[in-house]
Amino acid sequence: MTHTAGPTRTRYALCGLSVRAISVFAGPLLGRPDRPPTGPDAPYADAGELVAILDRDADRVDQYRAAVGTKVPWFPPEHFEQMVAETRPDVLLVATPDHTHVDYVLAGLAAGLDVVVEKPMVTTAEDAARVMAAAKHSRGTVRVTHNLRYAPRHQQLRRLIADGAIGRVTSVELVWNVGARHGASYFRRWNRTRLNSGGLSIHKSCHHFDLVGWLIGATPEQVFAYGARNYFGADSPHNPGPDRPAEDPYRWYDAGSPADPGPVRDSTGLSYPDQYPQRLSAFDPEIDIEDTYSVLVRYQGGASLAYSIQFSAPWEGYRLAVNGTHGRLETDLYYDVEPLPPSGSTPISYYPLFGDGQAYAVDGEDAGHLGADPLLVADLFRPTGDDPLGCRADAQAGAYAVAVGEAVWRSIRDNRPVNVADLLRTEAGG
Ligand SMILES: NC(=O)c1ccc[n+]([C@@H]2O[C@H](COP(=O)([O-])OP(=O)(O)OC[C@H]3O[C@@H](n4cnc5c(N)ncnc54)[C@H](O)[C@@H]3O)[C@@H](O)[C@H]2O)c1
Repeated sequence: MTHTAGPTRTRYALCGLSVRAISVFAGPLLGRPDRPPTGPDAPYADAGELVAILDRDADRVDQYRAAVGTKVPWFPPEHFEQMVAETRPDVLLVATPDHTHVDYVLAGLAAGLDVVVEKPMVTTAEDAARVMAAAKHSRGTVRVTHNLRYAPRHQQLRRLIADGAIGRVTSVELVWNVGARHGASYFRRWNRTRLNSGGLSIHKSCHHFDLVGWLIGATPEQVFAYGARNYFGADSPHNPGPDRPAEDPYRWYDAGSPADPGPVRDSTGLSYPDQYPQRLSAFDPEIDIEDTYSVLVRYQGGASLAYSIQFSAPWEGYRLAVNGTHGRLETDLYYDVEPLPPSGSTPISYYPLFGDGQAYAVDGEDAGHLGADPLLVADLFRPTGDDPLGCRADAQAGAYAVAVGEAVWRSIRDNRPVNVADLLRTEAGG
């Protein structure tokens, strides 16, 4: 990608006016509905111009345009080519529901555009291979916004590992807890079917598989996993049944309880008349994905990962350790729950195998997603210099993160180890 801030503003077209897009794409260029439309709330307006919004919900786009005071043109999904021809973007930003990414990414590459796509890049390894192949033959590039790479804590870890602090990496331990409030939200939105999101081993865990591969600089090779749905769906032990919806215990975690019949709104205040004509329950029978995983991953070069995640935990955060031939790095991060330490207060602990340990404080974690989002947005819209830590994930990185997630649900389903390269069919696509 060659676009930089300069006298000529880069032209961006956005597919999907999602809450995520408002946060990291449209908001920085045009402003947010929940904040004043000018000044620091559109901090990249001088670097880039949002020239088009494509979304299937015209009403939602109208709400946004009215709230931030813009006339940026709207296009429905079937008018993608018209949008490109009329508005001549340099870069396509894709932040629609996951299963639609592949079509927009491929269409963008076919038009020779640089494409910036939210994670997960796509929802299947087969589609990931298609994107890798298309990227090879396009003038355009693919960049996946794996934002956890930008979190200050992760950048510090990456530097320590790359500098050889622990020698050759031998194994990684990662326990990720998604709090009950946050976890329930996945099951009340489009994310809750394999068709839409690939399942949480792709939709959510792609963050973590990308993070670990990037931290240790290794390619995933083989996956074995167990998993189940324990908290949500029709068989949930918390499902009060259709006749007693007010007793849904997750109602405490969401304004969208049956007691609040208003429209579903995102955190900026916009509603989704098309996507959510009515509220969804976390116990609906269409839910077909897991909410609990235990996973082993082997990497080329011999390192391994032991990873677990569950989506209805009493606290949100993670415990991460990286072991090497010459030492160990450890870090914990908790948020949203007392009396555990607040976010940002836990250091990175470094234990050389022989010698004295050291603690590294971490700053800058107050902003979105552990402090990652402002740094990601700056690197997208006003990049400075090169990318020494390799934070800009390309199509191949996006593909591996998806393929490990798919290997997880396939391993669970078939009770066998799954080779990641087989899923990506790397001879054809990689
Ligand atoms: N990196 C992160 O930390 C992070 C966080 C949240 C979401 N995400 C990703 O961002 C993307 C958006 O997620 P969200 O939860 O913010 O979405 P959302 O539910 O808030 O919005 C989806 C938008 O897409 C529109 N839409 C639906 N189908 C469409 C189609 N076929 N064509 C065009 N528009 C369509 C809807 O009308 C809506 O405006 C997803 O890929 C998600 O995985 C990433």
